[in-house]
Amino acid sequence: MAKRIAVLVGSLRKESYNRKMAHALIAAAPESLKLEIVEIGNLPIYNQDFEDEGKPPVEWTAFRQRVRPFDGVLFVTPEYNRSIPGLLKNAIDVGSRPYGQSVWDGKPAAVMTVSPGAIGGFGANHHLRQTFVFLNMPVMQQPEAYVGNGSQLFDAKGSIAVESTRQFLARFLNAFAAWVDKLG
Ligand SMILES: Cc1cc2nc3c(=O)[nH]c(=O)nc-3n(C[C@H](O)[C@H](O)[C@H](O)COP(=O)(O)O)c2cc1C
Repeated sequence: MAKRIAVLVGSLRKESYNRKMAHALIAAAPESLKLEIVEIGNLPIYNQDFEDEGKPPVEWTAFRQRVRPFDGVLFVTPEYNRSIPGLLKNAIDVGSRPYGQSVWDGKPAAVMTVSPGAIGGFGANHHLRQTFVFLNMPVMQQPEAYVGNGSQLFDAKGSIAVESTRQFLARFLNAFAAWVDKLG
């Protein structure tokens, strides 16, 4: 049976390159992976008081329940100021609590960062990887995916327009399928 992968996109921009990339990955996924975007834009900013008072926002609870059954997580995100966009960090924090009940624990992960710049979001990619150590998420090491020149990758319909990028996505997804299989 196909492994279910939650896809978290670190941008809310309508024309987001990262969202386009997430859709391209969904379309290109092998049969052994079923990728689904889990939206994170509605999550109130994490505040531990809500938890301590026993009144977590309904959006937090719904998000935790939605993510928990997935077999793995794919992060597709821009870099903001050489780090993780607050939107995505907030979702990670929400999913990680209450303490001891993290939805991320043990889930295999992969990261792709997409940027219009040449460095391809390296900073965000590696700051994310730092969180995976504490979150206990075994993250795929190779191939690394720092995708630069994001503004030139997509055609008018939002599909990948560059053949070498299409080939790279296939390689990335096949490696992730093998990684999830190995750990699952
Ligand atoms: C607050 C902010 C900080 C940014 N910092 C970086 C950065 O550190 N590195 C980078 O490559 N691009 C940076 N950018 C540019 C983004 O890569 C660009 O806006 C990109 O299109 C965002 O991804 P998206 O298309 O998926 O929305 C930044 C953009 C914003 C709004």
